[in-house]
Amino acid sequence: MSQLIDGKQIAKDIKDELKKEIQQLKNSNIEPTLAVILVGEDPASQIYVSNKKKACAYVGIRSLSYELPGDVTEEELLGVIEELNQREDVHGILVQLPLPAQIEEEKILMAIHPEKDVDGFHPINVGALSIGKEGFQPCTAAGIIELLKRSQITIEGKHCVVVGRSNIVGKPVSLLLIQENGTVTICHSKTKNLKDICRQADILVAAVGKANMITSDMVKDGAVLIDVGVNRLENGKVCGDIDFENCKEKASAITPVPGGVGPMTIAMLLYNCIQSAKNGEELFV
Ligand code: GUN
Repeated sequence: MSQLIDGKQIAKDIKDELKKEIQQLKNSNIEPTLAVILVGEDPASQIYVSNKKKACAYVGIRSLSYELPGDVTEEELLGVIEELNQREDVHGILVQLPLPAQIEEEKILMAIHPEKDVDGFHPINVGALSIGKEGFQPCTAAGIIELLKRSQITIEGKHCVVVGRSNIVGKPVSLLLIQENGTVTICHSKTKNLKDICRQADILVAAVGKANMITSDMVKDGAVLIDVGVNRLENGKVCGDIDFENCKEKASAITPVPGGVGPMTIAMLLYNCIQSAKNGEELFV
């Protein structure tokens, strides 16, 4: 039987560590504060945002909630961001993605001050990540590395295959795996021989958004399987990108969905927010 990587428990351990740090900050009269902006009424985004706010409350981060209508203009949204950029009592700004069609995502992400960009999506932070400099790291990618480290899984020298090349997960997790001295192959929708490449993976990260697309014949015996997918099936159940039931016996370790990578994303968001409250200015000097 393979090792089940319990992201929920590991995220709780991290949150409990952060709670202590937050108490210390509060003792020095700093109240870590995260502004969360939700545009429109996408049900999945509403759940994500609600979970983020709950996690803030758990660790003692103050969260400010901005719920804007789905037909908000780009100018109005930029106005809210600018106001939050200026506020000294706000340490992190998060705009939940995706955004409605009338709003240009890149313009919004560029508008968030890099020192408050706790999602790690601003080009300054993306650039810092690509050259191995300090900055905010995208939360899911950082959460995956933390999950591996806290499960005593060595990355150095391993062949890491990442399926998916999104800006939010695939690209940043690939960069972090390289930084940890992994040998990384990135696969995507145009990759030929996906199965053969996946079969070479010591660590396989699936971040595509396609239910159960990684089947057991694509997995090497003893591989570590990290599932970033969150897919809702017709019966209402949530499943990952990896066919968990058929892959779990082959793997040496595997993350479940839900309860694997998802909770880690939120834990790392809280971590970034506290870093910002602690030494935001120092990060970028
Ligand atoms: N939508 C899906 N994942 C994320 C994330 O990590 N941050 C934000 N802001 N939106 C998302």
